[in-house]
Amino acid sequence: MNDLPHQPVLYQEIIHALQPQNGGRYVDGTLGAGGHARGIMEASAPDGQLLGLDVDPQALAIARRNLAPYEQRIHLAQASYTSLSSQLAQLQWDAVDGILLDLGASSIQFDTPERGFSFLHDAPLDMRFGPQALQTAADLVNTYSEQELADLIYQYGEERDSRKIARALVRARPIHTTRELVAAIESVSPRRGDRLHPATRTFQALRIAVNEELDSIEAVLPQALAALKTGGRLAVISFHSLEDRLVKDFFREQSRDLVNPPYEQVYEVERKATLKEVNRKPIMPSEDEIKSNPRARSAKLRIAEKL
Ligand SMILES: C[S@@+](CC[C@H](N)C(=O)[O-])C[C@H]1O[C@@H](n2cnc3c(N)ncnc32)[C@H](O)[C@@H]1O
Repeated sequence: MNDLPHQPVLYQEIIHALQPQNGGRYVDGTLGAGGHARGIMEASAPDGQLLGLDVDPQALAIARRNLAPYEQRIHLAQASYTSLSSQLAQLQWDAVDGILLDLGASSIQFDTPERGFSFLHDAPLDMRFGPQALQTAADLVNTYSEQELADLIYQYGEERDSRKIARALVRARPIHTTRELVAAIESVSPRRGDRLHPATRTFQALRIAVNEELDSIEAVLPQALAALKTGGRLAVISFHSLEDRLVKDFFREQSRDLVNPPYEQVYEVERKATLKEVNRKPIMPSEDEIKSNPRARSAKLRIAEKL
């Protein structure tokens, strides 16, 4: 696969988690370059099928090329995974055997300077995963109030200097490029040795807001659960604690019976547990994987099985 910069994150672990079978139906909700999808197609040969979604037309074009050998068994759509239920309805698939969500931005997006995801390149401040996003990062930076920016940077970036940074951004407006944004952040939060770059958290916060990433995760998890067959599996790779917390909480909540009244000895079961966590603790990449792909460093894989 020429267009794959490296092995997809936690590749073997994903194939092991989903256990693709001949004749099975699978969904990759975050297709990217199609690396995980290729593994699913190989493991489910000769008749396994895959629905692949991505909001990014550039990613879809690359995935289409990379997955050409499996064309007959693949359905690709430029769509958000938040439309999972309706995408499955269109295919008349009433249940699937496995679903993968590999959250966040792809290496291709990070490494394409014009997309504006990286503070290492100068580019227009865009950060949209796809054209469906209503606002660019520049729109947010230039129109939000100082308080709104401070809240956004604090909540989505977990940045302690959020107020200082928000003040600096408002002072530096209009901001149109990644370099202007970095300069405004560095004016109040200077670089210190090889510690985390001071713009890291603000970039993360803007990206999450532009793409409504956390709302999207909350929207897709119940749809994924509803779409799985009994024994089907959902595998989610997250890259920061805000994402991982949503997945962890959903899995924990759904793996318990819901009883009424809670904490009493005599109770009614209002809803039986709907899934079982396959691993109590998230699976992380090995040292070797992190060495060959430093971006895998913060990845966490959680797997649940439908009951
Ligand atoms: C980490 S990459 C996936 C890489 C992929 N697993 C591979 O093997 O190449 C995440 C992808 O998800 C896409 N994405 C992000 N939010 C999405 C959403 N709400 N719906 C569909 N795709 C989304 C991004 O555009 C990006 O291409």
